[in-house]
Amino acid sequence: MTAAHDTVRTPYELADVPGWFPHLDQVLFDWFLTHQETHAVRGDLLEVGVYMGKSAIFLGRHLQEGEAYTVCDLFEGEAPDGANRAETTKSYAELTREAFESNYLSFHDELPRVLQGPSSIVPAEVAPRSCRFVHVDGSHLYQHVRDDIGAAREVLRPGGIVALDDFRSEHTPGVSIAAWEAVLNRGLNPVCLSGQKLYGTWDDPKDLQEDLLEMVRGREDCSLSVQDAAGHRIIRLKGRGMAAPAFPPSRHVRPSAPEPRPQAPKARPQVPAAARRGGRARRIAVDLLPPVVTRTLRRARSRRRTS
Ligand SMILES: C[S@@+](CC[C@H](N)C(=O)[O-])C[C@H]1O[C@@H](n2cnc3c(N)ncnc32)[C@H](O)[C@@H]1O
Repeated sequence: MTAAHDTVRTPYELADVPGWFPHLDQVLFDWFLTHQETHAVRGDLLEVGVYMGKSAIFLGRHLQEGEAYTVCDLFEGEAPDGANRAETTKSYAELTREAFESNYLSFHDELPRVLQGPSSIVPAEVAPRSCRFVHVDGSHLYQHVRDDIGAAREVLRPGGIVALDDFRSEHTPGVSIAAWEAVLNRGLNPVCLSGQKLYGTWDDPKDLQEDLLEMVRGREDCSLSVQDAAGHRIIRLKGRGMAAPAFPPSRHVRPSAPEPRPQAPKARPQVPAAARRGGRARRIAVDLLPPVVTRTLRRARSRRRTS
C-alpha cells in the first residue's frame, strides 16, 4: 500500500497529510460523530494506527469539552513480532512520532494522548466503557486486528461506534477474517460499509441505520445498496465524485507559493522573406538584420557554396 504523499512539508491542508482516508469515510466520520454529539452520546475518542495523522487530525476536530482523545502507534518503535515488523518496515518506513506530532500540531493546539507501542497496551491504558468512537487502523494481521476489535468492544460505551479499516482489501485478508468473525461470533453489528471501512456497533443498529439512510438518500454523490446477510442489514455506500467535507487549514503554515509559470520560449528573430528569397534584395535585407542572424545566414550560404 502506498500513501498519497502529496508533500513532505508541514501540511497546510488535510489533503497535504500523507495517508489513507477517502472522502466518503471523511463524510461518514463527520456524520457518525455529529450524530453522537446531537444525540447526547458523550465519550472519549481512540485511534489505533495513526501513521502521519490524516484521520487522527480529522477525528481530533470532534473532541468535545470534557472528552479525552488517545492515539496508539508503534511509530519508529519495535513491532511485537516478525510479521508485524515486516508489515511496518514495508509500508511505514518513513514514519516517526515527531512527523505525526508536527502534522497534528499544524491543525490543533494540543496533541492527543500518544501511546507509543503495540496496540496490545490499549486495554491497560484506556478505561472500559469510556469511548464513543474507536478507529481501528493499526496492524492488518489477523491476531492483532482480532485483539484490537476486542479492545474496542471493551472501551466503547453504549452508543459507541467502531470503524474497522481495510476490512475488504485484497492485501489484508486478516482484517476481513477478524471483522466478519466479530460480526458472526462476537456480537458486532454492521451499521454500514464503505469501500474501505466497516462501521459497527455492539448496540442495536436499527435507528442509527434509519438516520443514515435518510442522510444518504438526500445526497446525489453517494450510491447505496441494502442487503440482508446472516441476519444483518448490510448498508453498502459508494462515493460518486464526492468532495471531502470542509476542514480548516493549518493554523501556522501558509499555503505554498504557486509553482512559477513556465516561461514562454523567446521568439526567434524573424528572417524577412526577402532574405530567404536571395539576390540583391536579400543582401540588403541581410545587412539590415541583427549581426547574429546575419552571421548565421552568411555561414549557411558559404557552406552551401562549398558543398
Ligand atoms: C494504515 S496506517 C494508519 C493510517 C492512518 N489512520 C491514516 O489516516 O492515514 C497503519 C498504522 O498502524 C501502525 N501499526 C502497525 N502495527 C501496529 C501495532 N501492532 N500496534 C500499533 N500500531 C501499529 C503503523 O505504524 C501505521 O502507522
